[in-house]
Amino acid sequence: MKALIEEVMGELGHRLEARSLSLRLTVSQVTLQQLNHDLLFQLIYNLINNAIRYNKDGGEIIITDDYIPRKSYSLFIRDTGVGIPENEIGSIFDRFKKTDRNEGEGYGLGLSIVKSIAQYLGIRIEVKSEFTKGTVFSIIFPARMQGVI
Ligand SMILES: Nc1ncnc2c1ncn2[C@@H]1O[C@H](COP(=O)(O)OP(=O)(O)OP(=O)(O)O)[C@@H](O)[C@H]1O
Ligand SMILES: [Mg+2]
Repeated sequence: MKALIEEVMGELGHRLEARSLSLRLTVSQVTLQQLNHDLLFQLIYNLINNAIRYNKDGGEIIITDDYIPRKSYSLFIRDTGVGIPENEIGSIFDRFKKTDRNEGEGYGLGLSIVKSIAQYLGIRIEVKSEFTKGTVFSIIFPARMQGVI
């Protein structure tokens, strides 16, 4: 997981400086199985891309995890950005959906790709957001990816 996130940051990292964003990355040395590297890369790339794009200048991206060996593994991508209003949170995973305040950037495809990849791999995605404060996406991996089942 750590290597994969570093690989994603290898592509996105240069964008942190332009916005004076800082990244706090503290994840376990866990190796998951039965995962397609390229699909997981795409999933995490899209979530971190959003965490950068919808952040505030000088803000933070905090990536942590929760690893219970042979039981569960979850990854959390948190930002201190603009947040998502409660009435819009239900539709952000829809194709071509962009929130009303966001006219300029993006096609509104990133999260629908995230959703499709997660469904295909059997990963659960949860989102919690506080408008104007920030957002956290939780990526919850099935136990079989630790090779226990
Ligand atoms: N971390 C986030 N913080 C605040 N709003 C977000 C965040 N992630 C997504 N959103 C909102 O959800 C909408 C949909 O996100 P999605 O990634 O699908 O599309 P996009 O970023 O607009 O375009 P694309 O990813 O195709 O370049 C975004 O337009 C944005 O308004
Ligand atoms: Mg996006």
